[in-house]
Amino acid sequence: MPKVSIPAQKLEFEVPAGSNLRDDLRREGVEVYQGLTRYVNCFGHGTCGECRILVKKGMENLSPKGLFEKATLFRMLSTIGHENEMRLSCQCAVNGDVEIEVQPEMNLSGETFWAKPWPNK
Ligand code: FES
Repeated sequence: MPKVSIPAQKLEFEVPAGSNLRDDLRREGVEVYQGLTRYVNCFGHGTCGECRILVKKGMENLSPKGLFEKATLFRMLSTIGHENEMRLSCQCAVNGDVEIEVQPEMNLSGETFWAKPWPNK
């Protein structure tokens, strides 16, 4: 069975292959949402962006990003600096071991944000 680890919370648990990451986190008692978004969110439809996670290891073990997830991540400021590692937990099926961070901070000094389009152009 795939393993989900959250080093910041010293937590590690196994989940059934193909299970929904947001559901797994909630079942394990991990607080996926912050503040009022615990009550006001899209309930796993991939449109609010409040269930975001940072994938530290094992991105290849999560299901690929779908259209809703790409659109939601595109309009979220907190994705800045984490373009390649931010996911919405409600849109992820876990197929292998992953290491994640829940409710990551915004990273305005991220490498990819300030580097675009100059000098990479
Ligand atoms: S719960 Fe709203 S995007 Fe995941």
